[in-house]
Parts: sequence; structure tokens; C-alpha cells
Amino acid sequence: MVNAIVDTNLERAAQIKGHFLPSRNVKITDDYQQVLEDSQIQAVIIGTPPNLHEKMTLDALKAGKHVFCEKPFVLTLEQANAILDALKGTNLKFMLGFNYRFIPHFVKMANLLKKGAIGKPVIAKSVLFSRTSPSSTFTGFHLNSALGGGALFEMGCHHIDLLMWFFRKNTRGLRQHLEH
Ligand SMILES: NC(=O)c1ccc[n+]([C@@H]2O[C@H](COP(=O)([O-])OP(=O)(O)OC[C@H]3O[C@@H](n4cnc5c(N)ncnc54)[C@H](O)[C@@H]3O)[C@@H](O)[C@H]2O)c1
Repeated sequence: MVNAIVDTNLERAAQIKGHFLPSRNVKITDDYQQVLEDSQIQAVIIGTPPNLHEKMTLDALKAGKHVFCEKPFVLTLEQANAILDALKGTNLKFMLGFNYRFIPHFVKMANLLKKGAIGKPVIAKSVLFSRTSPSSTFTGFHLNSALGGGALFEMGCHHIDLLMWFFRKNTRGLRQHLEH
């Protein structure tokens, strides 16, 4: 159940509520600390520009909330490690918005690779053609690498994640990191 929608642009938050949850009693605020202080809220979804992911995730974990954070994870390795360190020793769930893993043709490809349908892959190449425009995000973070990281972060991360998933490297690495 959604309890609250946070956006520094309150008009936008109200539009989202009106569109998706018109008849629900959902709190609207521009201050995410209010959500973190609400003991009724167990989990948060972070869908802000990437430069805000680290601080918002760390604040949410500190407040004991499970976190679903949109891709890309964060902008630097240090920020990524800070979040992994904050997760250590907690029972909190953290998930990144790598939704390509749920797209049926990618699921099929992962299963075929797992079954050895093409033998042992030795090299992989990933290509994306995508339409974008200056107005494709509200904040314009996709045009400012200090806010979004640039094209490699914005769309390349989906490809890197898929390749890591197909070749089964990522989860082992994360588990090892959390165990040590
Ligand atoms: N998984 C996917 O396929 C997918 C698709 C689209 C976007 N995304 C990711 O989702 C994230 C957001 O993308 P978008 O296109 O919705 O961006 P956007 O710029 O359109 O929207 C970001 C929202 O965050 C709000 N915001 C900014 N600072 C805030 C703050 N301090 N507190 C509260 N709200 C704040 C803005 O007002 C805006 O409404 C990005 O990380 C993006 O890469 C993922």
C-alpha cells in the first residue's frame, strides 16, 4: 500500500496521486524526512535523479526502511560501497530498478544461456538504439552528467547489468562483499 508521495515539486506529486491513486488517502509532501520518520512506512521507492540516490538511500537505511532504488545505482564506486557497507549486518532489503531482467525476451535469453544453448560464450556485445529528447526527464538530469552520470550510466547500466546477469557474475560479487 502506498502511504506517501514525496516530490520537491508538490504539483507533480499531486498529479501522480490523482492519476494512480485518486481515491486513496495518500500523504503528499516535499520533505522525504517526513516519510523516514513515519513508523507505518516500511519501504521506500527512490525515483529521483541519480545524484540523489546515495544520500536518500543511506538516510532511508539509517531510518530502518527497505529500499527500492531506481537505476543507475549511484555515480561513484565510493558511493556504491557506502551503501553496501550500510547494508551489512542489517536485515533490510535493497533492490535496484533493473527492470530489463523481467522483460520476457531477456528472461528467455538468460534461460537459454544457462542451459548452454550456444555453448560457452566467450564474448558479448550489447547495442541499444533509443529515442530521447531534451524534455524526456522533468529535471533534465539526463543532459547533465553531474546529475545523471551521462549515457553510460543512464542506459548503459541496463546493458552492463544484463550482461552480468547473463554470465552470472553479479550476485556472487555482491554476496561476497556483504559477507566480508
Ligand atoms: N528502470 C527504468 O527503466 C527507468 C525508466 C525511467 C527512469 N528511471 C530512473 O528513475 C530515476 C528518475 O527518472 P525520471 O525520468 O523519473 O526523472 P525526472 O527528472 O523526470 O523526475 C525526477 C523527480 O524527482 C523530483 N525530485 C528532485 N529532487 C528531489 C528531492 N530532493 N526530493 C524529492 N523529489 C525530488 C523532481 O521534482 C522530479 O519530479 C532516474 O534514476 C532514472 O534513471 C528508470
